[in-house]
Amino acid sequence: MAALIVASVLTALNLSAQTFVPNYDESLVPQYTLPDPLLFENGEKVKTAQDWAKRRREIFRLFEEEVYGVSPQWKGNLKASVVYENLNALDGLAILREIKITLQYHDRELDFYVLLHLPKSVQPVPVFLGFNFFGNHTTSDDPGIMVTQSWVRNSQSFGITDNRATEDSRGLRINRWPAMEVVSRGYGLATIYYGDVDPDFDDGFENGVHGLMGKKHKENSWGSIAAWAWGLSRVMDFFETYEPVDVNRIAVIGHSRLGKAALWAGAMDKRFAIVISNNSGCGGAALSMRRFGETVGRINSNFPHWFAGNFKRYNENEDLLPVDQHQLLALIAPRPLYVASAEEDRWADPKGEFLASVEATPVYQLLGFTGLPVNEMPGLNQPVHGTIGYHIRSGVHDIVLYDWEQYMNFADKFFKNK
Ligand code: GCU
Repeated sequence: MAALIVASVLTALNLSAQTFVPNYDESLVPQYTLPDPLLFENGEKVKTAQDWAKRRREIFRLFEEEVYGVSPQWKGNLKASVVYENLNALDGLAILREIKITLQYHDRELDFYVLLHLPKSVQPVPVFLGFNFFGNHTTSDDPGIMVTQSWVRNSQSFGITDNRATEDSRGLRINRWPAMEVVSRGYGLATIYYGDVDPDFDDGFENGVHGLMGKKHKENSWGSIAAWAWGLSRVMDFFETYEPVDVNRIAVIGHSRLGKAALWAGAMDKRFAIVISNNSGCGGAALSMRRFGETVGRINSNFPHWFAGNFKRYNENEDLLPVDQHQLLALIAPRPLYVASAEEDRWADPKGEFLASVEATPVYQLLGFTGLPVNEMPGLNQPVHGTIGYHIRSGVHDIVLYDWEQYMNFADKFFKNK
């Protein structure tokens, strides 16, 4: 029993019984050479936008094969129905709808729910779209929102045991979903519970959208991050048919593991007009080769279901990686991209996130855009906004109103008067 408790405390602390000691000392970051996004595999230089389109395919393929796994093409059927509506949400400022999306593939079905706050507008509105961690009902205190029936991570503070959510967790994550502020600025806010799309535990890739698609799982097949990212694209399929939303002005956003998913979604699906990574860290915006905080080996052993099986080949072997995360950011070019870190979130390597944004910039520049306009890391709470935006906020691993305010300021530059 005692051993069990120790093991679970260690897991919670991202340590394992084999004592992994994360490096938090900048002077101990090893020497590394990043793959150049602007050099073809055959060593030739990428000189034009046409060259980049070809080089992009090389890089994309490597991320599919070696990092996130290959996601299947979607050729199924999608049905949508409104299961809850409040025409006077947020003190009358917004329309709130919960929309059930059913994905039908062969004889199988999977449901997930999009919770959508929309400003009252006759024109289609731009929308921030992102996953939540504990169910749609945690993101708002509206009593009509369904308590998720899906598997949920246990959480003492949310009163979740046996992986089932109850009324007790309603509204407990409102702090991360500032609907009032977002709607007041003319944006819609859409969120989905990530566990509806793929429950976050290692079940051999049988449940969620893995089960729906029913493909035999191989070493280069999609892990859970790719599955979540793929789910975001299904929301886009729905938005394409849904008039109140302007499908050309969707900012995909995610925090932490869901930030990793947002980045990969932005790389896979060019319909996302803006991509926002909040504290996404290892396997997200942070450079793996720095081995600062969480490492490839650590993430693969704590979360063996997140990435392609092939990614495990780089455990404690980062120098062999044929790609690093600055190239993931470059896959988003020239679309606007925002990377944000938090000062105390050393596990996610803020500096590695910043440097990846710097290293993605030459691709933006080749395409005629600014990318990130600085080379030196800005001070705390001093956002820098080019085509790539970056800030490091004081405080811990979280997504707070300050972060959202920067994302809205950034989105205003690209989405207003469009
Ligand atoms: C763990 C994990 C991170 C992840 C985070 C989260 O800390 O090690 O990679 O980003 O969980 O999703 O909250």
